Amino acid sequence: MIGKICGTGSYVPEHFLDNDDLARLVDTSDEWIRERTGVVRRHIIEDDTTVSMAVKASRAALEDSGVDPKELDLILVSTFTSEVLLPCTACEVQRELGAVNAAGFDLNAACTGFLFAYNTAQAYIASGMYRTILVIGAESLSNTVNWKDRGTCILFGDGAGAAVLRAEEGTLYQPVTHSDGGKGNALTCMSRHRKDWLPDEQDTDSYMKMDGQAVFKFAVKKVPEAVLEVLSKAGRTADEVDYFVLHQANQRIVEAVAKRLQQDISKFPMNMQEYGNTSSASIPILLDELNRKGTLKKGDRLVLSGFGAGLSWGAAFLEW
Ligand code: ACO
Repeated sequence: MIGKICGTGSYVPEHFLDNDDLARLVDTSDEWIRERTGVVRRHIIEDDTTVSMAVKASRAALEDSGVDPKELDLILVSTFTSEVLLPCTACEVQRELGAVNAAGFDLNAACTGFLFAYNTAQAYIASGMYRTILVIGAESLSNTVNWKDRGTCILFGDGAGAAVLRAEEGTLYQPVTHSDGGKGNALTCMSRHRKDWLPDEQDTDSYMKMDGQAVFKFAVKKVPEAVLEVLSKAGRTADEVDYFVLHQANQRIVEAVAKRLQQDISKFPMNMQEYGNTSSASIPILLDELNRKGTLKKGDRLVLSGFGAGLSWGAAFLEW
């Protein structure tokens, strides 16, 4: 048994900041941001929360799948930016959806989070423990971004994406997952629940801090390696893949991965131009866009790949 994606959904807040808006906040320019990242604008919450975005994306995914919330056995939410710690975000979503038969828990693997949550859902389905699982990536990164740090605030946006997985026989799936805690300092965000937390802007540790170049170098090396590893496990080649759905961190990272894999860039859909890096929401938002546009056809072979804080990275090979 494997989990087949039978529906997708996504939600981003209406309000957005474009690059010129950011140039009014920090010393940057539209030209610099476009050239270095590909990002043009990012959507930012006003009244929404991580929970409300997760609920809206989930409702869309359930509608797309035709699955009733009461059929769900498990709700997995990947997030590191939820406004609630207790109860967990997944239980908040469960209540709002009326998914009374589902268990729910959260998982944090930063930008690799959706991929790890998807692989976790697959493991539960393969074990026979659950048959129908809602996997969500939801982030309010605007709450953890230091709006005075031009090295990070230009990159991130808010949003949520969701996918419904249902147990089926005989379709393709392979995972690979990796972490390297030894390199964790490259991207950090300290909890605001620690003893020395200062409730003001002096506490820059409670905002995201990143060694951008280190993360960039890590991504362009490890993502192609993970993709080749998962393809080797699946007995496939990159030429046999229809689409590589990568975490949307930076256009230059996606282009570098395409080059290393010697694949045409048209096989690497991108939407960071519109949303920036939405961390664990980026892969399901992109999947939902491709699904709704009709780009993905039944039987298409996909590789999903995520990377980010941890450091962590991984890939999944699947058939649509
Ligand atoms: N506007 C203008 N100049 C800037 C900006 C900005 N927003 N930010 C940095 N600069 C300057 C730097 O100060 C530096 O100036 P200097 O040469 O005078 O010292 C110069 O631009 C070059 O800086 P770099 O950091 O070398 O720029 P780089 O080309 O590496 O681009 C970037 C920076 C976009 C952050 C890139 O490194 C990157 O995308 N890294 C990967 C980030 C990522 O993918 N994160 C994903 C994980 S996120 C997660 O897990 C939550």
